[in-house]
Amino acid sequence: IYGKARRNSAGLDFSDRSLLLKLSAQMTQLAGKGWRGGPLVAGTMRTDQAQAVISPADAQCQPGKMTWAGERDVKAALEAADAAWPDWEATPAEDRAQILEKVADLYEKHQAELMSLCVEEAGKSLRDAHAEVREAVDFCRYYAAQARRLFSRSAVLPGPTGERNELSLRGRGTFLCISPWNFPLAIFTGQVTAALAAGNAVVAKPAEQTSLVATRAVTLMHQAGIPVNVLHCLPGPGGEIGPLLVSDPRIKGVAFTGSNETARLINQGLAEREGPIVPLIAETGGINAMIVDSTALHEQVVMDIVRSAFLSAGQRCSALRLLCVQADIVKPLLKMLKGAMDSLVVGDPRWLVTDVGPVIDAEALERLEAHHQTMEEHGRVLHRAPLGGDCEQGFFMAPSLYRLESIDELMAEVFGPMLHVVTWRARELDSLVDQINDLGFGLTLGIHSRIDAHAEAVTRRARVGNAYVNRDMVGAVVGTQPFGGEGLSGTGFKAGGPHYLLKFATERVVTMNT
Ligand code: NAD
Ligand code: ALA
Repeated sequence: IYGKARRNSAGLDFSDRSLLLKLSAQMTQLAGKGWRGGPLVAGTMRTDQAQAVISPADAQCQPGKMTWAGERDVKAALEAADAAWPDWEATPAEDRAQILEKVADLYEKHQAELMSLCVEEAGKSLRDAHAEVREAVDFCRYYAAQARRLFSRSAVLPGPTGERNELSLRGRGTFLCISPWNFPLAIFTGQVTAALAAGNAVVAKPAEQTSLVATRAVTLMHQAGIPVNVLHCLPGPGGEIGPLLVSDPRIKGVAFTGSNETARLINQGLAEREGPIVPLIAETGGINAMIVDSTALHEQVVMDIVRSAFLSAGQRCSALRLLCVQADIVKPLLKMLKGAMDSLVVGDPRWLVTDVGPVIDAEALERLEAHHQTMEEHGRVLHRAPLGGDCEQGFFMAPSLYRLESIDELMAEVFGPMLHVVTWRARELDSLVDQINDLGFGLTLGIHSRIDAHAEAVTRRARVGNAYVNRDMVGAVVGTQPFGGEGLSGTGFKAGGPHYLLKFATERVVTMNT
């Protein structure tokens, strides 16, 4: 049921200097392009009343202009999608799959442009921008393969002689896809292509902060052959556009990725609607822990902590927030960790040497600074990494390490390069996992141990969607590590997994007396 072995996007070889120089030249040329984005309804983009988009790396730099959608765009998009959906649903799954594969090819062809947008608009480091395009490409090809597997034929089920029972999967209608800024291309593309693969029309509502990337992606999707009336993009403030869309009876399902608070609002909005119960796929935040016992290999642990907690400026839902170290090794481990933090290059995301770029915007920086101040007031700051010289104009946060006295001091997700440490003692492993479970989130968890029984006990007891043993805990690969959480972290099914498309579909049985 998991489909044939497939290849993920090969990506670029970052050790090939000539290739990097070529890419960098292409990106530099694109940087001054002056991107335009706006509501993209029935293939036409509106660009009047545009506002400047600010780069997170440099508030003086404006990569482009964006026009927000209004009520009229919402109405037009819903009408067009509703009318176009039946034809798209009737399009053979094979044809839908082939168009999605063309989207992947076009993304690869426009890699430099998409990477450039991710760097300029979202402040992604070059490596993260590259990973972003690869993941988006993987989603297109994976969901194309899943559409062929699930939607190409019906299953004939056993029944009394003379009866034929056929079970098939069908699209639901128009799906609303609401995405966050931290994976502006990958998650945006993943949601949209899954809904399309399953035979739905789509109205996409990208995050305010990264709407240029999203509108460019939709243009490429149309170019690949997704009918313009089947896919629409409505950038704009979530609190205004969101409720207009959620409350409309033409929306037959919602795929949401973002904060837990917004997921609750959407759930509430859907519940208040008259008529059928509307499915909501919600992928939300996490307070993700890594448990390290005294047998772990320090060098590897430190490398995996740094990758998991600080790269991508800690702005991954999967990122490590809570490091639980066995007391016996806490001193040498933290000494090594502080050294590793000091060697991080924090600065301009356009440079290959940069490890940690900016956080997304001024509000995010303000929230993180407030958290730091609280930690400072309580005498909890263990270490801060130095900021680079080019950080003054942008929204940069120094990777920081804090000491907690107990796990329940961290009750909310802190979405940035900030790591909190607690210690535990031998024989406390089960209760440690219970305390992590009691936080209520259930996204990722890591364990570093050379005792197999520890790894087994922890992965069995922990209520998380993705557990990682003796490695970092970020960067789940499409089709290999289907990704998504439990509890406060999400409803499932997992993105990039074999069951995901099922949530976008409805089942129908036709019983025929022959
Ligand atoms: P957010 O909840 O603020 O916004 C997400 C999207 O919801 C945006 O497009 C926003 O415009 C929209 N929105 C806001 N209010 C709305 C409303 N009332 N109705 C409808 N839509 C509305 O989240 P964010 O800050 O963009 O993203 C960061 C969060 O996303 C973090 O909590 C992170 O953990 C989470 N996340 C989770 C996953 C996962 O797979 N579990 C992946 C990435 C990010
Ligand atoms: N899929 C992303 C990761 O694993 C969220 O980091």
